[in-house]
Amino acid sequence: GNVFTYDPGFTSTASCDSTITFIDGDKGELLHRGYPIDQLAEKSHYLEVCYLLLYGELPTADELEDFEARVTNHTMVHEQMHNFFRGFRRDAHPMATMVGVVGAMSAFYHDSTDINDEYQREVASVRMIAKLPTIAAMAFKYSIGQPFVYPRNDLDYASNFLRMCFSVPAEDYEVDPILARAMDRIFTLHADHEQNASTSTVRLAGSSGANPFACIAAGIACLWGPAHGGANQACLEMLRNIGTVDRIPEFIARAKDKNDPFRLMGFGHRVYKNFDPRAKVLKQSADEVLELLGVENNETLKVAKELEKIALEDSYFAEKKLYPNVDFYSGIILDAMGFPTSMFTPIFALSRTVGWISQWKEMLGDPQLKIGRPRQLYLGDTKRNYVDVEER
Ligand code: CMC
Repeated sequence: GNVFTYDPGFTSTASCDSTITFIDGDKGELLHRGYPIDQLAEKSHYLEVCYLLLYGELPTADELEDFEARVTNHTMVHEQMHNFFRGFRRDAHPMATMVGVVGAMSAFYHDSTDINDEYQREVASVRMIAKLPTIAAMAFKYSIGQPFVYPRNDLDYASNFLRMCFSVPAEDYEVDPILARAMDRIFTLHADHEQNASTSTVRLAGSSGANPFACIAAGIACLWGPAHGGANQACLEMLRNIGTVDRIPEFIARAKDKNDPFRLMGFGHRVYKNFDPRAKVLKQSADEVLELLGVENNETLKVAKELEKIALEDSYFAEKKLYPNVDFYSGIILDAMGFPTSMFTPIFALSRTVGWISQWKEMLGDPQLKIGRPRQLYLGDTKRNYVDVEER
């Protein structure tokens, strides 16, 4: 038979070729279609980056206008979906609701599930980019017992999302442009990250010919784990759990203890072994938002700043090349904006949807596409004979 290699965690196995995203972990570099993430975060905006990821080039002004019009055209969800939401318990985690609702999109939008039809693939892609913010906001509203807020298409993507989360019928939420910009930046910085666990999950699901909504639901399920997208929620909860600056050394000691499974959430990365370029941009964004909201002095933030300082100076973290990652700062910003921690990972999920879709589309266009089918190293029993129950 074939010879195959054993590579747990796929630390050194390429599963595909791709032209979308490039990461140089040693240099702390992240490029989308060749463009550095810090330039995109500074000069571009989320929907333009979506276009870039999906189609390979920055759009002309006309192309961008057309793309934005196509996305806003699809921001509402099917009215019948409201009933689907209402089937969930109010206290369900919004990620649990999202896995279910996005999975159910193939029941609501089956006219765009034929993966062999290019037009349907395109419609499914635009539908998901347009509807994920609506779905995430609905999952949030449902969990706090407030009425759903319909999207408003005169607002930009980020402002619309903030309004769907924070408006109530009695008082329309006025979106501060600084917050909208920070929100857009969080979306942009999470848009794609090559073959991470959830993206690989989407590709693996898609390799069997599953429909795009099913594939993205699989990605959302994978993202939820605390070692991946769930780290942003886990990180803020850890900061609150530490509580006060004087307790930091205790937690640092636990993180270093080999016999203690505790890890500093929001630190470390499989690929970045120098710094996370997304964290660099968000650190600056965090300062802006916290100043605007006048929360520079809250206790969680003090713990975050001190923890960052101590961890960066500590030799354990330096030797293992553990730096604050994107989740460390995004959690701080989202908390200041008023999002509960349970919404952090749904926000990551809606931002990453475009990356998953771009990777899925790229894969379907690959003439060498095969179903993903890893092998294993079998360590179980050798062949043996069945023993009747009376004789065991
Ligand atoms: N705190 C303490 N020690 C750590 C940490 C941490 N956050 N991360 C790694 N280490 C240690 C680990 O114990 C191991 O030590 P040793 O070599 O002595 O056994 C060494 O560093 C290497 O760790 P690893 O688990 O082999 O590295 P990995 O590449 O498999 O894991 C990671 C990467 C991100 C899962 C891990 O660093 C981690 O669990 N971090 C905390 C969770 C987190 O913030 N995740 C978000 C990642 S960025 C966004 C995203 O992907 O969603």
